[in-house]
Amino acid sequence: MPTWIRSLRPFDALAAQAVIERTTDLREAERFIRLFHAENPAAGGLHARLRDVARDVARYGIYTHTFEELEFGARVAWRNSSRCIGRLYWRSLRVRDRREVNTPEGVALECVAHLRAATANGKIRPTVTVLPPDTPALRGPRVRNEQLIRYAGYRTPEGVVGDPRNVELTELARKLGWRGGSGRFDVLPLVIQPGLGDPLLCNLPGDAVLEVPILHPEYRWFEELGLRWHAVPAISDMCLEIGGICYPCAPFNGWYMGTEIGARNLADADRYDQLGVVAERLGLDTSTERSLWRDHALVELNVAVLHSFERAGVTMTDHHTESQRFLTHLSREEKAGRVCPADWSWIVPPMSGSATPVFHRYYDTRVLTPAFVHHH
Ligand code: ARG
Repeated sequence: MPTWIRSLRPFDALAAQAVIERTTDLREAERFIRLFHAENPAAGGLHARLRDVARDVARYGIYTHTFEELEFGARVAWRNSSRCIGRLYWRSLRVRDRREVNTPEGVALECVAHLRAATANGKIRPTVTVLPPDTPALRGPRVRNEQLIRYAGYRTPEGVVGDPRNVELTELARKLGWRGGSGRFDVLPLVIQPGLGDPLLCNLPGDAVLEVPILHPEYRWFEELGLRWHAVPAISDMCLEIGGICYPCAPFNGWYMGTEIGARNLADADRYDQLGVVAERLGLDTSTERSLWRDHALVELNVAVLHSFERAGVTMTDHHTESQRFLTHLSREEKAGRVCPADWSWIVPPMSGSATPVFHRYYDTRVLTPAFVHHH
């Protein structure tokens, strides 16, 4: 076992999760199997497969997806993600089938392997890693981190140092024995909760976490702000639900759109809150809202984020290009005879909304499965 993995003593609040008595809903399973065969006519054998699935659900309370079903199910879960503007490339999602992993150490190793495979030296590859599902006898493992890479947030008398969004996770990791640090961008360890047994803390090896220092193409002083962000956004706390089966640990990633970092993570008042600092360095008049200093600062911060990722050779998209692509995706889906569910409040970028075409229309708000869902 590598040295960066350490088993920890039992911790009451996170003791083994109760065994659930939930069996697979056969109608959900059948609906998915029919969808798979309708969209993959070459697969063949629909009726034999339906019979086998019904038999397994009756006998064991669950059935097992073939790799092809799993791959299709994960891709469609992305296609159905109504908050995601980046769905044009849903067919290219890489699916790492790791359903055989049966230890928390194995889960940790696969999360690290996921980051390495997805980062690919900056040429980010949309990827999902599927770990064991919940079964009637035992829950699957879970990752407590919201994303595989998160920066610590330390509560201090002068306010939070780091990312205020991750204060709770930071305190949980500390309770479990993590030493922590004092920086604004300390990468948190993974907290893995197996279906049965004690949680495991795992430090991410440095070479699995690619980061980009934020510089501005014209303002030399920008570098002095000491800002940075990680290259890969890998959501790790959502269940992948396919055909009545729930995979609670299925970390997935795409690549970043600049505004996620420049107009939210580094700008929001309850995150890194950098607009005031940037405006001051720009010499803007912050004594009145009417100077639009916030807006100016927001633009320069976002110019810096896009420039920095490009300079570092890390895949990133901008909100104008991505809005165009989303409309292309919508019309492709329409042509294929499908509804494309979308949530306006998430699809419209957090800056310059009306300057992008996605602002000027409404969307179908249906909820479809397969799906990535939050289970609490
Ligand atoms: N908005 C989140 C963040 O800033 C990431 C959500 C997923 N984003 C993506 N481009 N796939 O970390």
